[in-house]
Amino acid sequence: MQSEQLDFLLKVKNKIGDKEKQYFILTMGCQLNENDSEKLAGMLCDMGYTKALELSNADIIVFNTCCVRENAEERLFGKLGEIKNLKEKKDIIIAIGGCMMQEKEMAAKIKKSYPYVDIVFGTHTLQNLPENVYKALIEHEKVKDIIDIDGEIYEGIPIKRNDDFKASVTIMYGCNNFCSYCIVPYVRGRERSRNPKDILNEIRGLAKEGYKEITLLGQNVNSYMAHPGVDLEMAGGIDSFAKLLDAVCKIDGIEIVRFISPHPKNFTDDVIDAIARNEKIARIVHLPLQSGNSKVLKEMNRNYTKEQFIELAEKMKKKIPNVVFSTDIIVGFPGETEEEFEDTLDVVRRINFEQIFMFIYSAREGTPAAAREDQIPEEIKHKRFDRLKELYELKVNDNNQKYLHTKQKILIEGFSKNNSQMLTGRTDTNKVVVFEPKDNEKIGDMVMVEIEEEHKWYLKAKIVN
Ligand code: SAH
Ligand code: SF4
Ligand code: F3S
Repeated sequence: MQSEQLDFLLKVKNKIGDKEKQYFILTMGCQLNENDSEKLAGMLCDMGYTKALELSNADIIVFNTCCVRENAEERLFGKLGEIKNLKEKKDIIIAIGGCMMQEKEMAAKIKKSYPYVDIVFGTHTLQNLPENVYKALIEHEKVKDIIDIDGEIYEGIPIKRNDDFKASVTIMYGCNNFCSYCIVPYVRGRERSRNPKDILNEIRGLAKEGYKEITLLGQNVNSYMAHPGVDLEMAGGIDSFAKLLDAVCKIDGIEIVRFISPHPKNFTDDVIDAIARNEKIARIVHLPLQSGNSKVLKEMNRNYTKEQFIELAEKMKKKIPNVVFSTDIIVGFPGETEEEFEDTLDVVRRINFEQIFMFIYSAREGTPAAAREDQIPEEIKHKRFDRLKELYELKVNDNNQKYLHTKQKILIEGFSKNNSQMLTGRTDTNKVVVFEPKDNEKIGDMVMVEIEEEHKWYLKAKIVN
């Protein structure tokens, strides 16, 4: 952490003293945002705040926003309306950060429509939270801390993790792909890879603390170190995603390694081979399809065709026994015809995706696709979404059969939400498993279970070791 931020952090800590101030963070968006929120929480804890269990108890409320689809905005504005009453009753600080704040005019809109917001910060200035809280809390200033250039990578920001046994580790920031529908490259800047030594030190530290599962994060993890601006001097021999995977898997104590998201166009053989040789890497790979039609894929600027995608999946199935895939699909991209949508259904029929994250296309201002005049009517988009969902649900039932009577190694993640007597975890293919405890097993233990029943979205099992 920068020393000037550390100074601000200590000044806030002195001011707060033993007054028992609480924070509440509301995270919208992807795992990268979740990981950023863990850093915001880490800084707030070091400033002397403790975590509020309810929003109404908080003395500082931080929104970490997303803007990848329109509904994220509606959610934020709804919440801000609710909080106005709270702010009238109590002297709280309201801070908004994250991707949406990097959108043009957004900070001005917040200032105009929600003047009671104290701090607005962007994705490149997260590390300045101590200074921004200092200004709002002690100098009673309204703070706007947004820059339009790619942020540097700051190491050593304190981090308060959401879980005790599984952890996310961001390995790279930004995206260079500019898929024509997507706003992420505009709000997260260009690709920047963390120094492999810093990543490995972080994971070694996590292993020492008892963490067993690591998820490596980035918008485009398989271009780790493969983009312009990489300083190979820093690499210490690890100059590719495949080599990073090997190094992470060598760390004792780490038992499960996941990564999200890779891009199909960058899925080189060295990465496939690294997955095949490292048993710690989960046998579910996220392969975001987006569309199954080559013309639409070209217009999306995805840089692969329907055939290349299917070939890639087939190649991976050959090289990595038991591998399954999850995917992201957008329906109703501008100009998508009925036949083109059928191609998406065709790929879903051919590749038995284990998990599909389905999205209705949402026009994002400033992206090329949003400027097109051939937008698909909402009603058609929704109908296509329902058809895809129906096909997916049939596939889930089929896919579940392969688990019956198999043995699976599971990290116990917690108690079942519906039945607190039951434990839950996931297969390494990400399927939720629910089972009864046998010999005082605890959260964080690895156990062997046998799958007895399938219930569409979860499997029921018994402990066998
Ligand atoms: N970098 C990741 C994706 C991050 S965004 C990747 O390429 O896989 C997560 C998902 O949101 C995308 O994969 C895409 O399916 C969806 N998405 C992005 N922009 C969208 C938009 N404008 N409308 C609907 N869905 C969108
Ligand atoms: Fe968006 Fe494409 Fe980058 Fe993913 S790869 S973040 S979908 S531009
Ligand atoms: Fe949303 Fe930003 Fe992630 S736009 S999906 S939170 S990178």
